[in-house]
Amino acid sequence: MTTLKGKVHYVGVNDRVKTLFEGLWPLPYGVTYNSYLIADDKVALVDSVDVNFFDLFLEKVKGILGERPIDYLVINHMEPDHSGAIRLLRKVYPDITLVSNKKALEMVEGFYGAGAKTLTIAEGDTLELGHHTLRFHMIPMVHWPETMVSYDITEHILFSGDAFGCFGALNGTPLDSRMDTSVYWSEMERYYANIVGKYGAPVQKALQKLKALDIEMVCSTHGPVWTGENIARVGGIYDRLSRYEAEEGVVIAYGSMYGNTLQMAETIAGELAAQGIRKVVMHDVSRVNHSFILADLFRYKGIILGAPTYNASIYPPMEMLMSEIEMRDMKNRYLGYFGSFSWACHSVKRLAAFSEKVGFEVTGTPVEMKQGMKEATCAACRELGKAMADRLKADR
Ligand code: FEO
Repeated sequence: MTTLKGKVHYVGVNDRVKTLFEGLWPLPYGVTYNSYLIADDKVALVDSVDVNFFDLFLEKVKGILGERPIDYLVINHMEPDHSGAIRLLRKVYPDITLVSNKKALEMVEGFYGAGAKTLTIAEGDTLELGHHTLRFHMIPMVHWPETMVSYDITEHILFSGDAFGCFGALNGTPLDSRMDTSVYWSEMERYYANIVGKYGAPVQKALQKLKALDIEMVCSTHGPVWTGENIARVGGIYDRLSRYEAEEGVVIAYGSMYGNTLQMAETIAGELAAQGIRKVVMHDVSRVNHSFILADLFRYKGIILGAPTYNASIYPPMEMLMSEIEMRDMKNRYLGYFGSFSWACHSVKRLAAFSEKVGFEVTGTPVEMKQGMKEATCAACRELGKAMADRLKADR
């Protein structure tokens, strides 16, 4: 049991079992489903947990409340990793009132069936609990349409839903001030790139709205509870990523079946380094889970993609990566590309179509290689690397 501030307790759970979040994104350090219990004159739960952790969750809740009932379940975000326990919660607490906006409550009905007592709130509405008073602010599309935050006016706590969340289970405590937080920063960037990445504009709107609040503690649905200087750091990460701001560096994402396309990638990387670009990250699109590639694509300004032709199109893992980039509406990137073929070149055409669609600034001349590496191809790859280096250095 952990009391956070005032009458707010942490009752979330660690998930160290799931290997892929959303069936897609690896969880090397696990993940949390955070829930907060406000044991005030009225009792409110803020968000709940994945249904598979209900027993442990209930034990934590009862450890604080005993047989006292829960008056309200505040739903900041309806996605089932936070709402999956609703049906079971209602069995244990039949009089619980679900508190959220109209859209979220409609979704609750769609997922879990009607019949619950509900309280529909809108922007700026408040819920008095005794010592604590919650005020609700809508932050749609961060990253679902129903998303909102609950701000505790009394203790200046922001219950932020997925906003400011990150991957990574908690090792003993939810409070950032009592732990080594180092693992969470890169996990926050990866979480953002994977889960929230498409919604840069809504995140910017949300940040503008939340700027007006005096926040002393951020309680999101995933990862540590943030306090002190970390609040600005977390806000800064979400701000930078949602503006698609990137640092100098290049991600070379390549596919290669027999090592020929890889030789092109190696040549480009060598030239980038020779030209003074220190941050060059190479990712094999077949071997590296795209979760990590996407995180690096959000971090660095330069992107170079290369793959062989395959079935009169492009190597499938590269097709998937291109789709994942397109889905995130990424902006402000420099793009170079290259490809190879044995008898008919399709991969570079496919990369050209991708380039047109995403609208990145094309940097250097795309390189096409027939069969194996020759001096002319090698020179063209070096030219591509140099062009990308020059473009990046022009921004210094
Ligand atoms: Fe953690 Fe969008 O659910």
